[in-house]
Amino acid sequence: MEKGNNPVLVAPSLLSADFSCLEREVRGLDAVVDAWHVDVMDGHFVPNITLGPFIVRAVRSVVTRPLDVHLMIGEPIKYAREFLSAGADILTAHVEAFGNEGEVKEFIALVKEMGRKVGLSLKPATPPEALEGYLADLDMVLVMTVEPGFGGQRFREDQLPKIGWFAQRFSGYLAVDGGINAETARLVREAGANFLVAGSYVFSARDRLKAIASLREG
Ligand code: DX5
Ligand code: ZN
Repeated sequence: MEKGNNPVLVAPSLLSADFSCLEREVRGLDAVVDAWHVDVMDGHFVPNITLGPFIVRAVRSVVTRPLDVHLMIGEPIKYAREFLSAGADILTAHVEAFGNEGEVKEFIALVKEMGRKVGLSLKPATPPEALEGYLADLDMVLVMTVEPGFGGQRFREDQLPKIGWFAQRFSGYLAVDGGINAETARLVREAGANFLVAGSYVFSARDRLKAIASLREG
């Protein structure tokens, strides 16, 4: 994934794909996307349950692009190794899921030890300063523009200043997740985002290739 060649990277969220025919869902798109976003939910940190390392391994076997795994779980340290072994290339956890600063640092070190990229995410109500002390060690910051838990929610414009705050201080992947479509993609790109996650917009589009292209420009 070269940030230099392509100013904006696009990672469709598999949450909106049909898992009964995943291979068919990703076929034809794998070559044009920059990564695949995989949402892991545990029914505790968020009110929804999705998938675990076993499915991440299965996804790994049908796609060639990097897997950007978004952990929305209460115990990220406990499960990080399993997700990395299953094939996560980027592993992101929520800053709200950790008990203290030491735990956040432990998670970051663990992912790096396994030679993968590490990210931290934050809910809409969490101020950007919560990540300030970790920015130098991160490959990705994932700004949630909906309350994590479900696809298909409405984009929260009140998160745009937060994206701008990170754009001024962070030079890695500045990712945005939730309610992204052609219109909101333009807003977040203008605010400084360089990595866009989109679920329902891509998978409900009649022309998915066109939908993906519209996130990069338009
Ligand atoms: C929500 C997930 C998102 C979700 C986005 O908690 O983290 O990745 O798939 O879906 P859309 O793009 O439909 O808002
Ligand atoms: Zn996500």
